[in-house]
Amino acid sequence: MPKEIKRDDIIILKLIAGHKPLLSSFKSYEKELADFLQEDALDNQDKSISTTYLWFYKPTGELVAYMSVLTDAINLQGNLKSYFRKAGIMYKSLPALKIGRLCVSDAYLHKGIGTLMIEFAIIIAEKIRKDVGLRFITTDAKRNTDPDKDSLHFYKKLGFEVLREREKGTLPMYKDLIKK
Ligand SMILES: CC(C)(COP(=O)(O)OP(=O)(O)OC[C@H]1O[C@@H](n2cnc3c(N)ncnc32)[C@H](O)[C@@H]1OP(=O)(O)O)[C@@H](O)C(=O)NCCC(=O)NCCS
Repeated sequence: MPKEIKRDDIIILKLIAGHKPLLSSFKSYEKELADFLQEDALDNQDKSISTTYLWFYKPTGELVAYMSVLTDAINLQGNLKSYFRKAGIMYKSLPALKIGRLCVSDAYLHKGIGTLMIEFAIIIAEKIRKDVGLRFITTDAKRNTDPDKDSLHFYKKLGFEVLREREKGTLPMYKDLIKK
């Protein structure tokens, strides 16, 4: 297996019922995320709650990652509120695309797939933004006491900022699609 996986090595497919038998092959140290894929992703999609994209590694056909996205809004608070007030934007909240769940299978971690998935989320957001108002990408970063498993650093590295601090559980983060 190569050290780094490139976008051309990947096929992205929107989840369909025919994928169901494959989903149990997906393994993650974040069990809740593997369970969501097997148990809830399709149902959520049928109910228009979130849309899931599966990532397959072309050379082996393996399911190596998935991402579920949905719409969201950020309530402007603190520094973010001041920033927008200064720019003359007085709204209480602004629209966002949320990465509801994002997970790379254990065997394919640290090969650049997570980064490619964020790039893919930005492509989806830019597409939507042509037709519908959309300012941010949001996510709830999963915290882990093991620094190698704490997704905060991953998201920070990719330009996400902390929306508000929380002691436990997930940490709400955002990326402004306009402010570079
Ligand atoms: C977070 C996650 C998606 C990262 O995927 P990945 O494919 O391993 O990430 P990449 O290989 O693209 O890594 C990009 C950079 O982020 C850093 N990084 C990746 N995962 C990290 C982690 N868990 N902790 C700290 N830094 C991390 C890497 O150091 C890498 O930097 P480098 O290029 O200098 O090595 C993956 O660890 C995962 O699926 N975790 C379980 C589920 C989860 O936490 N999802 C996010 C919250 S919903």
